[in-house]
Order: sequence, then C-alpha cells, then structure tokens
Amino acid sequence: MNLHKRSLIIFLGILTGFIISSNSGSVNVLASTAVAPIIDGTISEDEYSSSTSFASGDYLFYWQIEGDTIYIGLIGKTEGWVAIGFEPTIAMKDADMIFGWVESNGTVITIDAFSTGNYGPHPADRDLGGSSDIASFDGSESSGSTTIEFSRLLTTGDQYDNTIPSTGTYNIIWAIGPGDDFGVKHTNRGSGIIDLTSGEPTTTTEKSTTTTEEPSEQSPGFEFLIVFLTLAGGLSVYRRKTR
Ligand code: HEM
Repeated sequence: MNLHKRSLIIFLGILTGFIISSNSGSVNVLASTAVAPIIDGTISEDEYSSSTSFASGDYLFYWQIEGDTIYIGLIGKTEGWVAIGFEPTIAMKDADMIFGWVESNGTVITIDAFSTGNYGPHPADRDLGGSSDIASFDGSESSGSTTIEFSRLLTTGDQYDNTIPSTGTYNIIWAIGPGDDFGVKHTNRGSGIIDLTSGEPTTTTEKSTTTTEEPSEQSPGFEFLIVFLTLAGGLSVYRRKTR
C-alpha cells in the first residue's frame, strides 16, 4: 500500500469515528457561556465573575458582563443608600450614577441618575429629559448592610448614561449614604479603576474618604492661647493703672 492510500484510510477512519461518537451523543461540548447572575437582591459566593472591595470591606462591588448586558451587585455598610458612578470627568461631574436603597417597608428603590456638577446635583435621568435604563433590580437589607443588584445594557443610547466597554480599564466612583434620601450627602465615598476584561485579574486602585465629624476650626491649644493673652493683657493694663 502506497503512502497516498494509507493516508486516505487513516483519514476515513478518523471521520468514521467522529460520526459514530457524534451520533451516540458522547461528544462533550464544554459550556462556553457563563451563567448570568440572578438579580434577586442577595449575592452568593461566586455568583459574579468579578468583585472588588473598598473602604476595608465597607463597600463591595460585584460585576459580570454577559453579551450586551452588565450585571452589578453592591453591598454597602449602611441602612441607607448605596451608589455606583461610571466614568466621571472631574470629582462627581458627568458620572452616570445608580442609587439604590431598601425602605423600612421592604420596598426596593433604584434611581438612574447623572451628576451635572463637580459635587452634584445628580438628578434622575428622567428629570433631565433622559430615560431610566435599569433593566432589572432587587435588593435587601440586613445587619446594617444594604445589597442592591441590577442589570443594564452596556450601551443604552441615553445621553445621561455613559457607555460601559466590555474590555479594558474603567473609572468608577462609589458612595454610601446615611439614610433612604438620595439628596443627603454620603458618609463614605471613593473612586477606583477596574479591569472589565473577562478573565483578567481585577486591578483596582482605591481612594476612599469617610466623612467624620466636622473638624473644629480651632484646636484646644489655640483657645488656651487666646485666654492666656487676654488675661496677660488685662493684667498689664491693671498694673499700669495701679502704678
Ligand atoms: C446627595 C448626594 C451627594 C452629595 C450632596 C455629594 C456631595 C459631595 C461633596 C460636597 C463632595 C466634596 C466633599 C467631600 O469630599 O466629601 C463630594 C465628593 C465626592 N463624592 Fe459626592 N455627593 C453625593 C453623592 C455622591 C455619589 C452618589 C457618589 C458616587 C457614586 C459620590 C462620589 C463622590 C466622590 C468620589 C467624591 C470625591 C471626589 C474628588 O474629590 O475627587 N458622591 N460629594
């Protein structure tokens, strides 16, 4: 048998084997599409393909992109609102924001908003003439933490939504508020850069600031100095008068 014939027989053998195994259903096709997170207001371990933590775990951010949709989960240490902002230009300005909170009667509220100024205001997209583009959402509150999950299209077409790319790095800002009023300023906020590329390790940079009590304008030492100088001045005037 020459080489040509032998190659033909080997080829036909492989082809026959492939057809038989296909028909018997024994070919294992690896699932290439991941399961999308379930938007039910609770986040289980490994539900999302990517996650990162800010403020020593006081704010957790989860995400997964499936097709043209991004699924997002937020857990903030607050009984008030939690929020995420996409791609600001300066501080909060031009950030496409999503707020969410759970009211005392269990009602879950989310707001698709947009920050028009460096430090707000951030009206709802609808109030600016745009649209609310949160495709699905749910939330829950327990042990002083609020969980909000939502999904939206990467590109919504609304001028008050920033397009989210499916690969590469992306700037986000986050915040948590003290109550269920999204007009009341955050108690904790920060910013970071996340890597949206599927399968890439999460590279997150962080800058967080917790709002504490307003610092007193003058230190106790300064107040003591004022009292001391006043007393010293008064004493010297008294001495001059009594001479
Ligand atoms: C009622 C809502 C809000 C008000 C009144 C507000 C107001 C302010 C103000 C006055 C500052 C400057 C003082 C400071 O650093 O604390 C600030 C900074 C900041 N806010 Fe907000 N904010 C609100 C909501 C949000 C939301 C929803 C986010 C994120 C999604 C956010 C993210 C930030 C960040 C990252 C900074 C620091 C910006 C920088 O200095 O680069 N804020 N905000």
